[in-house]
Amino acid sequence: MRIALVYDLRDDYRALGFSEEAVAEFDSVETIDQLAGALQALGCEPVRVGRGQALAARLVEGERYDLVFSIAEGVKGRSREAQVPALCELFDQPYLLSDPLTLAACLDKAVAKRLVRDAGVPTPAFAVAERSAAELQGWDQFPAFVKPLAEGTGKGCEAASLVRTPEQLQAAVTGVLTRFSQPALVERFLSGREFTVGLVGNGAEARVLGVCEIVLKAGAEANVYSLHNKELCEDLVTYVRADDGEARLAGLRALEAYKALQCRDTARIDFRSDENGEPHFLEANPLAGLNPWHSDLPILAAQNGVEFVALIGMILDAGLARYGLARPGRERLRRTA
Ligand SMILES: Nc1ncnc2c1ncn2[C@@H]1O[C@H](COP(=O)(O)OP(=O)(O)OP(=O)(O)O)[C@@H](O)[C@H]1O
Ligand SMILES: [Mg+2]
Repeated sequence: MRIALVYDLRDDYRALGFSEEAVAEFDSVETIDQLAGALQALGCEPVRVGRGQALAARLVEGERYDLVFSIAEGVKGRSREAQVPALCELFDQPYLLSDPLTLAACLDKAVAKRLVRDAGVPTPAFAVAERSAAELQGWDQFPAFVKPLAEGTGKGCEAASLVRTPEQLQAAVTGVLTRFSQPALVERFLSGREFTVGLVGNGAEARVLGVCEIVLKAGAEANVYSLHNKELCEDLVTYVRADDGEARLAGLRALEAYKALQCRDTARIDFRSDENGEPHFLEANPLAGLNPWHSDLPILAAQNGVEFVALIGMILDAGLARYGLARPGRERLRRTA
C-alpha cells in the first residue's frame, strides 16, 4: 500500500529566507522520518513527496497513491491547510484526515468558535478586529486575550496577549494586525486549568484518546502556552494525564466539538477553564503535530498506552475505513463515514 507523505519542512522554507517565526508551524526532518518509519512498521510503503506543489505536479503527471497523508500546513491565507485536501479531491485521490471545509473552518478561530458554540459547547466571548483596533472600542470584558485569527503553534500568543485595560487591548490588537497582516481575535481571558484533548475515529467510533493537562513550570512564560513555551516544552512544560471530573468534562466537550466541526480520523482540541472550573473551547487542530516526543498528540497518546506506531495505525485505519479499505494484513473494514 503506497502512501504519499506531504509536508512543509522547516529547513526548506529557511533556505527560502523565511524567519524562524514564519517556519514555526512547519515540520522537522525527524518528524517525517518517524512518520515514514511508522508507516513502514504498519506494512505500508511511504513515498516522500514534500510540499503541496510537488504533489500537484505528480498528480498532473498521472501518478496516484492508495492514500495521501498530508500534514502540510501551507503558506498563505486562512484556507492554507485546506489546499492539499482540495487538490486531492480535484484529482479524485483518496486522502487521510479532515476535508477542506473543516480545515479552513478550524484555522479561522472565529468561524470554529461559532460552529462549536452553535452545538452548545461553551467558548469564551469574542470579537474580531479586521483592519483596525478602533473596531473593538466597545469591548469591556477584562482581562482579555488577544491573538491572531488564523495561526497555530502559539504564534502571537504571549505575555502581551493578556490585556487588562482598553489601552493595552488597543496596543495588542495593533501589534497583531501589523505583525501578522491578518485580523486579531479578542476573547475573554480564561484563568483556569488548561487541557488538550486527543481524539480519533469517525462517526459512532469517534472517541477521546486522552486528556492532557498543560502545566507551566516556574521558568516558563507565565499564563500562556506560548510559542516560546512550546518550542522549549521539554524544560518549561509538564504534561499531566488528567482524569478528574473537570478533565473528563473537557474530553466530553471536545468530542462534541470534534463532531460539530466534522473532523475526520484525528484531531487535537484545546480547552481552558474559567474561574469556576468550566472548560471552554479554545480551538481545534485537525492537523495536529506528529513529532513522537515533542508534539502534544503523540505525548498524550503515549500517556494512555498508545505508542507512536499504534497512534499512526489508528489514524490510518480510520481513514482507510472511510474508503472501505484496510491496511495490508488486516481484514477489510466496514465503511464508517
Ligand atoms: N481566551 C484565552 N484565555 C486564556 N488563555 C488563552 C486564551 N486563548 C489562548 N490562550 C492561551 O494561548 C495558548 C495558545 O492559544 P491557541 O490554542 O488559540 O493558539 P494556537 O497557536 O492555535 O495553538 P496550537 O499550538 O495548539 O495550534 C493557549 O494554549 C492558552 O494557553
Ligand atoms: Mg492551541
